[in-house]
Amino acid sequence: MTPPESSPGDIPSEATGGASSKGLLAGRRGLVVGVANKRSLAWGIARRAHEEGAELAFTFQGDALERRVRPLAESVGSTVVEPLDVTDDDQLDAVFAGLRERWGHLDFLVHSVAYANREDLLGRTIDTSRSGFVTALDISCYSLIALARAAEPLMTDGGSIIAMTYYGATKATPNYNVMGIAKAALEASIRYLAVDLGPKNIRVHGISAGPVRTLAASGVSGMRGMLKVMPERAPLQRNITVDDVGATAAYLLSDLSAGTTGGIHFVDAGFNITAMRHPDRGTTSG
Ligand SMILES: NC(=O)c1ccc[n+]([C@@H]2O[C@H](COP(=O)([O-])OP(=O)(O)OC[C@H]3O[C@@H](n4cnc5c(N)ncnc54)[C@H](O)[C@@H]3O)[C@@H](O)[C@H]2O)c1
Repeated sequence: MTPPESSPGDIPSEATGGASSKGLLAGRRGLVVGVANKRSLAWGIARRAHEEGAELAFTFQGDALERRVRPLAESVGSTVVEPLDVTDDDQLDAVFAGLRERWGHLDFLVHSVAYANREDLLGRTIDTSRSGFVTALDISCYSLIALARAAEPLMTDGGSIIAMTYYGATKATPNYNVMGIAKAALEASIRYLAVDLGPKNIRVHGISAGPVRTLAASGVSGMRGMLKVMPERAPLQRNITVDDVGATAAYLLSDLSAGTTGGIHFVDAGFNITAMRHPDRGTTSG
């Protein structure tokens, strides 16, 4: 992949709030929702987007995470760091009003947000309470619809939206439970949003990542087992990293994927294409 020689972002980086004039995303401005710390998938995406020349804005959920997110944002030259709990419509409106005032325009949006009550991430799915279901679906799925709706008027030159999903959306996965249901709804939302926004050349994609040890993942029981099975069953015989996710995100956020929308892109070392562990490889049944 050869980065473009020049681009609309071909202006000094000090004038572009941390953006570079070179790279797949040179001159592009994007909002990243879902950085909790440096292990976050959203941080892998943000770091790569920055390397590819993008100028970034971040949100954080609550004061405790602000202390982590603000220095990370500063490390990629971003000073736009706003509070956002995705269940709070006023905060959401304020984030986009701020972006309109500051940038007047948005090229991409990264949605990397999920939550379910801990008791709903173990045991039997059948025991999920109504309120636990509503919480998981609201935060993990509806938030994408709300964010996309708020981003649409700012994406005046087209745009790209990505959301993070997991294989548990389509295959029953131990302990993933209500989050699998929320991811199925998220993946359906990606397709419907792609149809809504396609006429404006706004593309919507899902990245289905393999297991990565993050704050959110620590809430899913059996994560250690999932990480162990991956190298034994996945064709690439390894776990994936946030850098793998960042690289695929850079493609989906850039013009390289201009003819692509509504799809779910697996970054899982190929795990999803296998029916079982190869009998000549590994030791754990998977
Ligand atoms: N880690 C994995 O194994 C894995 C695999 C596939 C998909 N994913 C998905 O990737 C995304 C990011 O998760 P992660 O693993 O990087 O963990 P993470 O804990 O680093 O990120 C989750 C983010 O969700 C945010 N969040 C939760 N509730 C919120 C709310 N009400 N308002 C605003 N933000 C809220 C948290 O603040 C956090 O930044 C999630 O959608 C997750 O389901 C993770």
